[in-house]
Amino acid sequence: MPSLFIKTYGCQMNERDSEQVAADFLAAGYSLVSSPEQADVVLMNTCSVREKAELKALGKMGMIMASPEARPHTVYGIMGCMSQSLGRSLFRELPRLDIVAGTQRYRRVLPLCDSLLKKRLSVGVGQPLRRGAQLCETDPIPRAQDLIRDHLPPSGSCSAFVSIMQGCDMHCSYCIVPSTRGEERSRPMKDILDEVRRLVENNGIKEVTLLGQIVNRYGREEPVIDGRGAFVRLLEAVHEIPGLERIRFTSPHPIGFREDLVRAYTYLPKLCSHIHFPMQSGSDRILRLMRRPYKQSKYLELCHAMRAARPDLAITTDIIVGFPGETEEDYLLTRAAVEEVQFDNAFIFQYSPRRGTPAAEMTDQICLREKEARNHDLLAVVNRIATARNAALVGSTQLVLVEGPSKTNPNRLQGRSSQNKPIVITSGSPAIGSIAPIRIAESTGFTLYGEAV
Ligand code: SAH
Ligand code: SF4
Ligand code: F3S
Repeated sequence: MPSLFIKTYGCQMNERDSEQVAADFLAAGYSLVSSPEQADVVLMNTCSVREKAELKALGKMGMIMASPEARPHTVYGIMGCMSQSLGRSLFRELPRLDIVAGTQRYRRVLPLCDSLLKKRLSVGVGQPLRRGAQLCETDPIPRAQDLIRDHLPPSGSCSAFVSIMQGCDMHCSYCIVPSTRGEERSRPMKDILDEVRRLVENNGIKEVTLLGQIVNRYGREEPVIDGRGAFVRLLEAVHEIPGLERIRFTSPHPIGFREDLVRAYTYLPKLCSHIHFPMQSGSDRILRLMRRPYKQSKYLELCHAMRAARPDLAITTDIIVGFPGETEEDYLLTRAAVEEVQFDNAFIFQYSPRRGTPAAEMTDQICLREKEARNHDLLAVVNRIATARNAALVGSTQLVLVEGPSKTNPNRLQGRSSQNKPIVITSGSPAIGSIAPIRIAESTGFTLYGEAV
């Protein structure tokens, strides 16, 4: 039986695509292995959003290929955003690389790899096929394709990602995503509902996360009916699916975030008490330079409205520090916003210039030392707030979707609360895939510990 090793970098879109590619290989008779040295096909699903993410993937692939245990017939492929953005030039970086597949060609990965593997095994190892066989399939402008899920994800998981749209039309000045994922396009509601239903009925999925770069722009060409836009109508329809227990989505954007979505938190109990709501900056001047079309006051207003609709709502965010031209004053506005919102967690990114984006051409780039200093300073604020918010949960009972053994101690079970906090279950053993009430006894930084009630 041939085998596949797949490593995924980047966001949930990539995780979803990897899930599909892995399912394609499984359906074709491959097994999944956890070490690249044993694999007949080695795939890396890559991210271009920051330089670090690219360097990590390139470094990892280079190391795998250079390993003395690497087998000569192994097929090496790179897919995802870096493939889309760099195309053939990846063959120069990694001469042993066989296949480059762009973001819209992930369903081609199995046939490409499989036919190359078969050829190579039949010709004999180490033959000239190696170089001549290098194949690059990308679209010059990625056009969104239909996101059909032919094969169910590997079983055993109780949670799945479901793409509801692709691409992005926003062109924030720092962001490479519109060029790697193409234009925004929403998937028909019926396809999404069919997919969720199948995941629940055939795969025992209890929780879905609806994915899009700006989910609240889903179906924006469709009419607003009874005050509800297409995204909220989609949430309501997914909510109706029997057997599904939890709904999440990522990411929403302040643009087009209307009252109907705020209200959804009051009457859709399956909608989890967590929102990942990227803020990027607390300075209106920087938001404008980022081409983020909202003011800080609008962002705050939405956070307050959502918390009023769902008092236990956990809010997490993305923040960029060191955007070109960011002064100390701008930075302090970001820090003040973090204090004001009291985020449950925040991902802080140092601005990374990306090829082909306007911000990379701006002349007032911030030096690395300053970016690091702001990152370090903000992280301390974020961690202090997050720790306090977690500590406040001690003594409460949280409903936890039990996912499986804890990563740090396989004798204990672990799951996530509605607020998306990881919770380790220290006593009692509720069934995997069930939603169990857990009384929180302890909190350490980001992890909570509790006993089954
Ligand atoms: N569509 C989402 C964001 C997707 S990218 C949204 O607009 O909300 C995920 C995060 O990466 C962004 O929220 C941003 O904080 C960060 N990011 C994107 N480009 C970056 C860059 N050039 N440098 C640093 N961080 C970046
Ligand atoms: Fe990038 Fe902005 Fe689109 Fe998000 S909304 S993917 S940050 S361009
Ligand atoms: Fe990265 Fe592409 Fe996602 S650049 S963040 S993997 S859309």
